[in-house]
Amino acid sequence: MTQRIVSGAPHELDHSLDTSLRPRRIIDYIGQTAVKNLLAISIKAAQQRGEPLDHVLLYGPPGLGKTTLANIMAFEMGVNIKTTSGPAIERPGDMVATLTQMQEGDILFIDEIHRLGRVVEEVLYPAMEDYFVSWVIDKGLKARSMNLSIKPFTLIGATTRYGMLSPPLRDRFGNIHRLDFYDEDAMATIVERSSRILEIEAEPEGVTEVARRARGTPRIANRPVAPRPRLRTGHRRRHHHS
Ligand code: ADE
Repeated sequence: MTQRIVSGAPHELDHSLDTSLRPRRIIDYIGQTAVKNLLAISIKAAQQRGEPLDHVLLYGPPGLGKTTLANIMAFEMGVNIKTTSGPAIERPGDMVATLTQMQEGDILFIDEIHRLGRVVEEVLYPAMEDYFVSWVIDKGLKARSMNLSIKPFTLIGATTRYGMLSPPLRDRFGNIHRLDFYDEDAMATIVERSSRILEIEAEPEGVTEVARRARGTPRIANRPVAPRPRLRTGHRRRHHHS
């Protein structure tokens, strides 16, 4: 099915502009004031303690800036960020490998974290809590598990489905924040910023109009163009089942 241009879910058109339009620093991030302030405090506290940031869970509708915020936190903390997603981590061994490769203080960003398999998810529990992973070695009767310590790291999880997260996973996040749709002022500021970066002239009325039509979702406002509707000739229509 073709993706609707007014859906917040990622669209193939989004990608090319993502890197230029996503704010890199927290002061350039518009709106979500409450979340932004709390995150700024967490960042400052972690830096003062000289410890990694507490694990962060971001949830809310698609297209509101969860991935952007994760990248901003890495930038502000001056650490590396490794980005992956729930469905991409198929086996517990993949999770173990990822975790053991993290440097101290690094951020692991897992998008769609509600889609982690149960066994994969269980690798995360001791990793998040006590920075070790359990590794099963040998098979059959000789099978036993070995604990492997990992570097203190920060997990940032993102989900559009808070209710689908298992309670044990949810409980291991020190910071849980919900992103909400942006109000029209914030949307207008975002559209204006984008037009400046892309050097596209925009009249205030145009900015307001794009902002108003984007369903409180920056990803929709920043989308280059709506795909042109396919020409429907009589011939095509006959073969069009929908
Ligand atoms: N682009 C997408 N989301 C944004 C935000 N919250 N602030 C600035 N630019 C953005």
